[in-house]
Parts: sequence; C-alpha cells; structure tokens
Amino acid sequence: MSDPSSPKRRRLSELPVPVFTHDRATVYLGDAVELLPLLPAGSIDALVTDPPYGLSFNGHAWDDATGFRESLHDVDTSAMSAPEVFEAWCTAWAAGALHALKPGAHVAAFGGARTWHRMVRGIENAGFDIRDQIAWLHTTGMPKSMDLSHAIDKLHGVHRADRTVHTDDRDGVLGATRTVVSKGTPVTEDAQRWEGWGTALRPAFEPIVIARKPPKGNSVRNVLAHGVGGINIDGARFADDRWPTNVAFDPVQADALDVLTGTWQGESLSRKFPIFRFEHKPDASERPRAFGVSHSTVKPLGLMRWLVTLLTPAGGVVLEPFAGSGATVEAAMRAGFEVVAVEKDPRYVPLIRSRLER
Ligand SMILES: C[S@@+](CC[C@H](N)C(=O)[O-])C[C@H]1O[C@@H](n2cnc3c(N)ncnc32)[C@H](O)[C@@H]1O
Repeated sequence: MSDPSSPKRRRLSELPVPVFTHDRATVYLGDAVELLPLLPAGSIDALVTDPPYGLSFNGHAWDDATGFRESLHDVDTSAMSAPEVFEAWCTAWAAGALHALKPGAHVAAFGGARTWHRMVRGIENAGFDIRDQIAWLHTTGMPKSMDLSHAIDKLHGVHRADRTVHTDDRDGVLGATRTVVSKGTPVTEDAQRWEGWGTALRPAFEPIVIARKPPKGNSVRNVLAHGVGGINIDGARFADDRWPTNVAFDPVQADALDVLTGTWQGESLSRKFPIFRFEHKPDASERPRAFGVSHSTVKPLGLMRWLVTLLTPAGGVVLEPFAGSGATVEAAMRAGFEVVAVEKDPRYVPLIRSRLER
C-alpha cells in the first residue's frame, strides 16, 4: 500500500546513461514504468517481453503488489485489491511502451494463467489493439495444489506416521523441491471425506498476448509509412515451411499428441505446430550464472527468437522492458536486431552481460 505520508521519490526527467551497451544492445538499469516514457517517441519496432505475472513467484517482491506499488508511487493504490494494482501497473508500463513504439508496432507479452486477463486489460487500457494470443503448451509444469485431506489432518493436530516427503535442494535457484512420495493414510473422519481433493490443476500452458499499437490508416499504408504493422509469416515458418500458428508445443507435449493421434494424412500431427523446449530449470547453456546469482524464470532462447523474428522488421529495434537474465536480449541479437532492454534488479545485469559476451 502506498504510504501517503512518505516523501515522493523524484521522477527522472531524462533517460539515464545505460548500465552497459554491447554491440547492438543497450541495457538500462531502472524501473520500466519510469524509463519507457523517456525513450524517444516512436523509436521501437517491436516489444517482446516476459514481465512479472503478478503471482508472487517464489516470494519475489518484483512479482507482487509491493513491487508494483513501488512503480506506481504517484498513483493512490490504497483502495485497490492486489489484482487491481497489477492491472494498473500493466496499464502503466504499456502506456510507456505505446509512447516508445512506432505506429503499428507489435507486442508479445507472456502472462500467467491466473493473472493474464489483468495484463491483457492493462495493455488494452493503455491504447493497444489486442490481436491474438499464443498458447505455449508444455508438460513439465508442477501443480501448486494443497492436499486438502492432509491439511485437514494437520489442522486437527494429527500426524500421519506413514507419510513420506522427499526434499531436493540440488538446484538452489527455485528453492527446495518437495516431493510427496507417499501421502499416508487419512486419519480423521473429515480427512477421509476430502481424500483426493486439491486446489489447483497442473499448469500446462503459458499464454502470450499479441497486441499492436493502432496503425495510422490501414495496415498497408502504415507498413509503407512506418515500416511496421505486419507479422513476418515467412520468417517464422517452421517444419517444412508451415504457416506460423497461435499454438506452440514443447517436445514432450508434441510426442504425447502423436501417441494419442497417430498420423493424419501420412504425417504426425505435432508437425503442424512449432515446438520449443519448456523447462523449469534450464541447463547452464540457457541459464547464465554470475557472482553466484542466476535467474529463476528463464525463457528458452528458441521461443524468444521465434517471437522477435515474427514481429520485428529487418534491421529493427526490439524492446524488452523486463530483461531478467536477458533471454530476449540474446535472442534479438542472435536474430540480427538491435535491442533496448530495462531491468530493475542490479543483480541480474551481469547475467545479461554474460549472455552477450559468450
Ligand atoms: C519474468 S522475469 C524475466 C525473465 C527473463 N525472461 C529471462 O529469461 O531471464 C521479469 C523481470 O522483470 C524485472 N522487473 C520487475 N519489475 C520491473 C520494473 N518495474 N522495471 C524493470 N524490470 C522489472 C524483474 O527483476 C525480473 O528480472
């Protein structure tokens, strides 16, 4: 909640010096809500981003109302619910993006299934047209579900002697992983009644909204005048020249589809969709580590490269306001674009740098 008695932090009136530049990449350390309005108006060709989802992921302040309120320090958020704060925050960064993007320029932004509607509304509130959504279907998501029966036994102060839990902290980035090896036998009558009930499905897709800054005139006139407004169908073709789809798979999901459906017209169905890896804990080649820090929500390079290629014209500038470890930054560079990135947390800047220097 913003404290009305606390002195307001002075807003920057011009863009700060980048924290570093490398080849065609320019990286700013700061708050995207503050910095995007300071970028030159109409200077950006595409925005591809993996912003906070508003899920308090792993307890990170940047992913909950505390972090969002910091960015909205001149908005009175005191009467807003957490979802309303998240939407107001999305509206704020999207308004800055609208200023920085060329007319007709596209946005691709990831969201979380539970909060994505707020982000989409925020992007629309800011003045963008919502054009599509891409569903990235994956297999390795872990359900964050409460075992109601076990929780009831605990509430009644009952210990299940035959319950076994394995704790694995090999990785250290996402914290300890607890695996229930055996749920044990429900003891109380209430627990027996609710055996088998939980509170959440296993997540198996990530939505990616595709939006566009309204073009000036129609798409044809806008493309000719501003060099953006279309999507690069040929550049984003996959598997023997297929038209890009608004569904993408991870390899295991694709295999599962093929097992279920066999073949259709002589080929496996999964070949009709682009396929990108999904991993909660990508290996070192995809998740940089510097000074003992690595990032907990790294996106795969292949998927980010496909998105920047889909939306950015040749020689164009990609904006990533929430860079994290820099997956979008590296993808844009590898695809031959310029990139402007913002990251608020100084601990992640060396990760971005290490991607560009390798
Ligand atoms: C979901 S992570 C991005 C991860 C990235 N896709 C990767 O592959 O590493 C979102 C990032 O946004 C940053 N962030 C949160 N609020 C911000 C803000 N207001 N301005 C700039 N960066 C912010 C967080 O520190 C976090 O690193």
